[in-house]
Amino acid sequence: MNKLVSSLLSLAFVAGLGGTAAIAQEDHAAAPAGEHAETETPHYPLKHPKSVDWSFAGPFGHYDKAQLQRGLKVYTEVCSACHSMRLVPFRTLEGLGYSEAQVKAFAANYKVQDGPNDEGEMFERTAVPSDYFPSPYPNAQAAAAANNGAAPPDMSLLAKARGVTRGFPQFVFDMFTQYQEGGPDYIYSLLTGYENPPAGFQVPPGGHYNPYFAAAASLAMPQPINNDQVTYDDGSPQTLDQYAKDVSAFLMWTAEPHLEERKRTGFMVMVFLLIFTGLIYLTKKSVYASKEHDSAAH
Ligand code: HEC
Repeated sequence: MNKLVSSLLSLAFVAGLGGTAAIAQEDHAAAPAGEHAETETPHYPLKHPKSVDWSFAGPFGHYDKAQLQRGLKVYTEVCSACHSMRLVPFRTLEGLGYSEAQVKAFAANYKVQDGPNDEGEMFERTAVPSDYFPSPYPNAQAAAAANNGAAPPDMSLLAKARGVTRGFPQFVFDMFTQYQEGGPDYIYSLLTGYENPPAGFQVPPGGHYNPYFAAAASLAMPQPINNDQVTYDDGSPQTLDQYAKDVSAFLMWTAEPHLEERKRTGFMVMVFLLIFTGLIYLTKKSVYASKEHDSAAH
């Protein structure tokens, strides 16, 4: 009896707590908008990333090689002026459909530091396919000094390192659609998301307003790319929108070059598990076929 009373009491206590919390929340919601505006830290990013229809989304997703090649062109001609990809070797570009000779010629456009030589000096040489995409800056401090104090992050894994929480109920659907494109969606939105700051908003010196930036309302990177900046030779539209999609897809590939194999293996594993479940069920049935049920024995 005592037990019953105490559990009833604790139930009432929990319900009371829940009630007060709900009231507190309502109070908060009921406060006139703007009253907190100056003291409250806004939640970044100010705008949720736009959703792009990527070819590599979903369980059967695959990369569009022509798109990746265009993305490489955008990276090479625009982004590589500031961003390195120190985990991506040139030789992996063969995965985009280039021949060994083409990759060799591509790598030869870059200079990398090597050494020390017999005199103990570091020296520069032409890059070969086994080298990695170098940084345009000698070190992080030089990179930051050239960009208003913010060093451009290395791009090798950027598409996997950025993603914005989607919140309820979106994340429930995401489990079923296997949504993993938060990174490229974010990069695409950032590149196409520069706009004029709202009236009264003070953009910090050296900053550029962008409501899609994950860490603040402005960032040190000015809008890096515009319509007609890169020439495409496959007839694709030379628009900011297309450039942003192509380079985001390319960055997804650099971050996860084996995405297609992973998805294919995952699918085969699911098929195997389904068949295996059927087999186990049939085995169970045949093993117990001759055994009488307990209930029948009674
Ligand atoms: C003029 C130099 C410059 C160029 C060119 C440039 N960036 Fe940046 N980028 C920066 C700097 C600086 C930052 C760091 C910004 C900050 O943290 O405030 C940055 C940050 C980023 C970020 C990370 C944002 C985050 O969430 O931290 C992405 C993504 C990005 N750049 C993409 C690109 C792409 C794609 C291109 C090519 C189309 C490009 N950038 C070209 C300088 C550049």
